Amino acid sequence: MRAVTQSGPGGPETLTVTELPDLVPGPGEVLIHVAATAVNRADLLQRQGFYPPPPGASDVIGLECSGTIAALGDGVETWSVGEQVCALLAGGGYASQVVVPAAQVMPVPEGIDLVTAAALPEVACTVWSNVFMVAGLGPGDVFLVHGGGGGIGTFAIQLAAKTGARVFTTAGSEEKLARCRELGAEVAINYHDEDFVAVVKEATGGRGADVVLDNMGAKYLGRNVDVLADEGRLVIIGMQGGVKAELNIAQLLAKRGAVIATALRSRPVEGKSRICASVVEHVWPLVDDGSIVPVVSAVLPLDRVGDAHRLIESGDSVGKVLLTP
Ligand SMILES: NC(=O)c1ccc[n+]([C@@H]2O[C@H](COP(=O)([O-])OP(=O)(O)OC[C@H]3O[C@@H](n4cnc5c(N)ncnc54)[C@H](OP(=O)(O)O)[C@@H]3O)[C@@H](O)[C@H]2O)c1
Repeated sequence: MRAVTQSGPGGPETLTVTELPDLVPGPGEVLIHVAATAVNRADLLQRQGFYPPPPGASDVIGLECSGTIAALGDGVETWSVGEQVCALLAGGGYASQVVVPAAQVMPVPEGIDLVTAAALPEVACTVWSNVFMVAGLGPGDVFLVHGGGGGIGTFAIQLAAKTGARVFTTAGSEEKLARCRELGAEVAINYHDEDFVAVVKEATGGRGADVVLDNMGAKYLGRNVDVLADEGRLVIIGMQGGVKAELNIAQLLAKRGAVIATALRSRPVEGKSRICASVVEHVWPLVDDGSIVPVVSAVLPLDRVGDAHRLIESGDSVGKVLLTP
């Protein structure tokens, strides 16, 4: 099979496509012939040597894919050879073949072409599990998502808006702010020159946000707690602004607030499987009927994997960047 390998940790130039032995599915796994994979921010960290794969996962980068089932491991009865699917992976996506536990495989939503389906597993599972399964966002709630123009942000805005929440978001350019509004954000805030705490508080009559989905970590911890409404939930999924910060417990206690941090990749197969099943039940119908659309900036051949990483690092992409082997 063709797969992206690395000469050693470093920049995008360390990524090359080489031939590796074909894969064989183990018990409970399926083999997928990959139509497309997507670049995630975690992939950039793995490339730099800061985010090693969890034990047992492939060394090949790549957390999601779409493709066609090519073989079934022992005991798999839920899928058939030839079915078109997408899948949440612990690794191995930047390749022409992957093996994955059958319960992390999902059908391609109706009306979505096979390549575009690769844009969905990571954002759908991350947003659904954190914003809804963990933080319990509901109709009429105030939701703030940082980085609204990114892969996670473009999906979170749409899903929260369709749920009937009031959606606030931050982004770094006028183009991205406009796209966020088109996707359903009531208010899009330029994080370079506006204070998101003041904007959200003013627009909600001083109440603040019931749920915040945060990609910045340390840099925004204090202001994210400031912006929380009483009984608000801050869910941190990224550390783009560092890992250590001071938390004012008295302020959190007075609000009866919660600060939660989660990672999807390192969850056991059972945890990922529960999330995938819940996504298929609750989120896929909204993709099937066109209420939520995958946002894709670029589709590049796998040989241009370095350019795909450069594009994400440049900050010029909106939504997802896909690679086709
Ligand atoms: N824990 C998990 O399980 C999990 C799963 C998936 C993703 N993640 C994390 O979630 C985050 C988003 O992922 P992604 O795939 O959407 O990445 P992405 O497409 O690369 O988006 C990154 C976003 O960060 C935004 N950003 C940069 N500086 C910012 C600032 N000061 N304030 C607010 N936003 C800022 C960017 O906004 P502009 O381009 O507008 O500047 C961009 O929208 C990443 O940190 C990723 O590692 C975590």
